[in-house]
Amino acid sequence: MNGELLIGRVRWWHLAEMARMETAIFGPEAWSEGLLWSELAAGHDYRAVFDRSAGGPEGRIAGYAGTAFSDTEAWINNIAVDAGYRRRGVATMLMDDLVARARAGGAKSVFLEVAVDNVPAQRLYDRYGFYGIGVRKNYYQHTGTDAAVMRMDL
Ligand SMILES: CC(C)(COP(=O)(O)OP(=O)(O)OC[C@H]1O[C@@H](n2cnc3c(N)ncnc32)[C@H](O)[C@@H]1OP(=O)(O)O)[C@@H](O)C(=O)NCCC(=O)NCCS
Repeated sequence: MNGELLIGRVRWWHLAEMARMETAIFGPEAWSEGLLWSELAAGHDYRAVFDRSAGGPEGRIAGYAGTAFSDTEAWINNIAVDAGYRRRGVATMLMDDLVARARAGGAKSVFLEVAVDNVPAQRLYDRYGFYGIGVRKNYYQHTGTDAAVMRMDL
């Protein structure tokens, strides 16, 4: 079934669909379409997994990830998978892709923040060898949940 799932670059015309996904996935913590626009405008690299068997000409977005790259570091700003596509390796496709590009670009480390109670995401990051380097208290505004800051060495 994953043969119909293809990874590609996010363009501005994908942002409305992604904003709807943000609301469904993150509720009050969702990023708005405007914030997603500013992520692209800032030059951050967004990739999506498209389900070519569904939706319009490009397919339906199953998941996406946004990364800020610098010379020696990559920061994963956002990663999310539609509830109907989970446990099918979509996040793994996105992570494999961004880690490979970070490595190819000469990055030495990948960083991210994750809610301390987000077990699925932490399991995913464990698989890549991320380890905790700190905690940001009350990082998520609506719940007051702390975020763990994690690092992976390339
Ligand atoms: C976390 C998330 C991105 C994972 O996406 P996914 O496409 O389902 O992940 P994958 O199918 O690639 O899973 C890879 C591995 O991650 C771990 N994992 C993923 N979901 C899990 C869950 N619900 N429970 C436990 N482990 C989980 C498993 O080790 C899994 O491998 P397996 O299926 O062979 O056991 C997805 O659950 C999601 O979008 N959650 C809501 C948004 C979010 O929390 N984003 C992260 C913010 S930091």
